[in-house]
Amino acid sequence: MKNEAMQKAIRIIRDEHRSIAAVLHALKHLADESYSDATVRPDFTVFRAMIRYIDEYPERLHHPKEDAYLFERLAARAPKAHALVDGLRAEHVRGAALVRELERALVFFEEGWPRGAFEFRAAVDAYSEFHWAHMRKEENEVLPLCEENLTAADWDAIAAAFGGNTDPIADLREKDFAQLFSRIVSLAPAPIGLGEPWRKGAPA
Ligand SMILES: [Fe+2]
Ligand SMILES: [Fe+2]
Repeated sequence: MKNEAMQKAIRIIRDEHRSIAAVLHALKHLADESYSDATVRPDFTVFRAMIRYIDEYPERLHHPKEDAYLFERLAARAPKAHALVDGLRAEHVRGAALVRELERALVFFEEGWPRGAFEFRAAVDAYSEFHWAHMRKEENEVLPLCEENLTAADWDAIAAAFGGNTDPIADLREKDFAQLFSRIVSLAPAPIGLGEPWRKGAPA
């Protein structure tokens, strides 16, 4: 039934966006704090876990599924969506490059703390602003066009791919990301997560 599969697929895609947004919000908050108080040494394990999540979840699982299923079907059904879909595919490529910059900025920050806080925060801002705009475009433009143009068979395939029933893209499992997400929450300092507050420390 078109409606059931459609609703399931849309719900999963929105949920995946919410998880990504939660990690981005937390990362941005902690990057801002690290920049504004250079006397507190960040727990770099938290930053590394967050960036690993961003690298693997949106970049290696969520985006490839959008490319292979959602965008593919939309482009086939609605020629008027070609420009939009091409733009979003290009953004997926750009997102991967921004993550590499984020990783480089983190290495520089960790090795040079408290130097590098400004550059790290700038890289976090660049990625998070880029990704929020990207997700908004998908939710406000792509999903309504998909609702309008996709068939029941399309939605079945999309719901199955996003539901984790088939995972042709990579050997990555949703449950691994649920575990990584919980780890981020338990490590991140309150009020962002459940971990201990970061302490003041002397630069190395
Ligand atoms: Fe996307
Ligand atoms: Fe997305």
